Amino acid sequence: MRHRIILVGAGDMGGHHARAWAAVGQTLAAIVDLDVQRRTALAEKYEVQETFPDLEEALQRCADADIVDVAVPLRHHAPLVIAAAKRGRHVLVEKPVARTLAEVDAMEEAVSRAGVVAAVGFQRNLSPGVAFLRDAVRSNRFGRPLLFTAEGFAEIRPKRFMHDADDNNGPLVDLLGHYFLLWESVFESTPERIYADGFVLAHARPEIQQYAHKAIDTGTVVVRYTSGDIATMTVSWGLSPKTRVPWVPERLFGPNAVAISGAFKDFTWEGFTIIEGEKETFYPLPMVNPFALQAQAFVEAVEGQRPRPPSTLQDGRRMLRLSLAALQAIETGEPVSLAPVSEKE
Ligand SMILES: NC(=O)c1ccc[n+]([C@@H]2O[C@H](COP(=O)([O-])OP(=O)(O)OC[C@H]3O[C@@H](n4cnc5c(N)ncnc54)[C@H](O)[C@@H]3O)[C@@H](O)[C@H]2O)c1
Repeated sequence: MRHRIILVGAGDMGGHHARAWAAVGQTLAAIVDLDVQRRTALAEKYEVQETFPDLEEALQRCADADIVDVAVPLRHHAPLVIAAAKRGRHVLVEKPVARTLAEVDAMEEAVSRAGVVAAVGFQRNLSPGVAFLRDAVRSNRFGRPLLFTAEGFAEIRPKRFMHDADDNNGPLVDLLGHYFLLWESVFESTPERIYADGFVLAHARPEIQQYAHKAIDTGTVVVRYTSGDIATMTVSWGLSPKTRVPWVPERLFGPNAVAISGAFKDFTWEGFTIIEGEKETFYPLPMVNPFALQAQAFVEAVEGQRPRPPSTLQDGRRMLRLSLAALQAIETGEPVSLAPVSEKE
């Protein structure tokens, strides 16, 4: 069945989403963006007839569009998802799902009241590398317990608002969500406790002096899982402009073996090397487009061919809760114990 999609946001992610919808044979009914040049350019590229400056007008004018795809900055996620759900549209929203748990709860309420499908864009978790590691862990190739390490270093964000703590939860939260979901998927376990420390590395950069409350841009996070496994990530998105730091692969260490990721290109890992004693084996993985996999899975959930999309609002809420716990640990200097997720804060 062909669906008609209203895509909100014609920026970087909007471009990836537009390509994904086209790749899985769905139709973009309209492109919405505040910026006329961006919405017009994306509409021309994908031969989309309608463009609008705001979602409300698109919802009214495109009565036959059944899906809204939200790919705009974080502060707009909750109001746009709620507006789409209230008009009976299924909705895919970029990650992080929202700024606060209260916002996610309001989104969840609107979605369940409308009886529509909602999903969060953790497309990275659909990369074949995640299933590869999960299966290798399941077959006990590494042994237990496991240590997963990841690093991410970059210059201060060209989208400066990301450094405004009052606008966005900041670079740390933006990146961590992907990894929290990855670790949960690979360990098949739930987080028990989180430790973190961090600071604002870019505090003196003139480019972000307009922000009174600068977001934490640098830190180390350690999560302990009920399985006894540990995952850690060190991030800085506060380096001086044009600083390029060589990429460090993701690594998984167990008593029997070690996995080291190959390059991460176009949002997917090209493969993993497994080291067992002196033996090293590289396993190449298909270079699929995870945004297209996400679009296809979302459509299947809308059509009832699968019970739910790969990442639901509740998944987004769990990842946000962990990200906020990391910020809390940084602020208080204390580890945060994570009560079962079903307990609402
Ligand atoms: N899934 C991922 O791997 C991934 C990667 C990067 C960013 N993101 C997320 O994607 C979202 C978009 O990020 P981006 O990098 O594309 O940003 P961007 O700045 O490149 O594009 C955002 C676009 O939204 C438009 N916009 C802003 N407010 C709007 C509104 N209220 N209505 C209509 N248009 C509006 C802007 O004009 C801009 O064109 C963010 O939530 C971000 O966290 C996800």
